[in-house]
Parts: sequence; structure tokens; C-alpha cells
Amino acid sequence: MYSEKVLKEFRHPKNLGKIHNPDGLGKVGNPVCGDLLWIYIKVGKNKKGQEIIKDIKVKTFGCVAALATSSKLTTMAKGMTLDEALKINKEKIAKELDGLPPQKMHCSVLSMDGLRRAIEDYRNKKAGRIEPSKKQPSRSSCRHRNKKGNGKSN
Ligand code: FES
Repeated sequence: MYSEKVLKEFRHPKNLGKIHNPDGLGKVGNPVCGDLLWIYIKVGKNKKGQEIIKDIKVKTFGCVAALATSSKLTTMAKGMTLDEALKINKEKIAKELDGLPPQKMHCSVLSMDGLRRAIEDYRNKKAGRIEPSKKQPSRSSCRHRNKKGNGKSN
């Protein structure tokens, strides 16, 4: 069902944990399947003066695909400019993992949404706007349900 790369990423996930006083925090969750994810970023600058993701950590409470894709996303995003990181999409994450089962493609959306919210949180703070990180976790676009519709994840 899963590729070797997905299983390897799941068994040895990267960048797990939390950053204290992050520059940006993205919290996303799916109350239907119960998966939750937090992404923390620290922002720095590259030699050209562009803002980059200097450090990134993730906490994932979810399925195999959610954990593997969130780990892969953090390794992809680290060192990217914020605008480059915003271009990471579920297809790119899946490609890096040699694909995901079609019914699990939506799981990669959770980490993608988390990163986008973390960058949004950073930009809002910088602009002096209300911090989305102070709000409750927002719903991801993940719409997973099991056959009985009782919200349990597999
Ligand atoms: Fe994997 Fe919803 S994110 S089941």
C-alpha cells in the first residue's frame, strides 16, 4: 500500500518537536478523522536578504501518511524562501515519497496547510495584525471519513 520511502519516513521522521518562541505557528486539525498538526518556524535571511525558513519543527497526531508527509515537508521547506515554501503542494510532497495511495493523498494536505498557516502567522505578526495562532486549530481541507462515518482514522 505504501512506498518504501513513505515507510522509511514514517519510521524515522525528521524535525519532530516544537520551537519555543516560534516566528510562526500553524495549527490545523480535522475533527472528522481526528488528525492534528502543529508546525513551528523560525525565519532568517539568506545571502540575498530574502526571508527563509531557518528552522522548522512539526508535531503530528495522525495516520502513517500524515506523519510521513509532514516529516518530508519539513525537510523540503527548510532553507527555502517563504515564497518558495508556499509553492509546496500535495503533488510535490507525494512525488518526493514515490507516491501515496489515492485515498491517502488528502493526508498530505494537513502538513501543507500547517506550513501555509505558519507563514501567514509570521507575516501577520510582522505586519502587526491579529495572530491566527491564538485561535483554535483551524480545519484542514482533509475530509477523511471511514466507511461507518464515525470519524476514526486508519
Ligand atoms: Fe490521514 Fe486524515 S490526515 S486520515
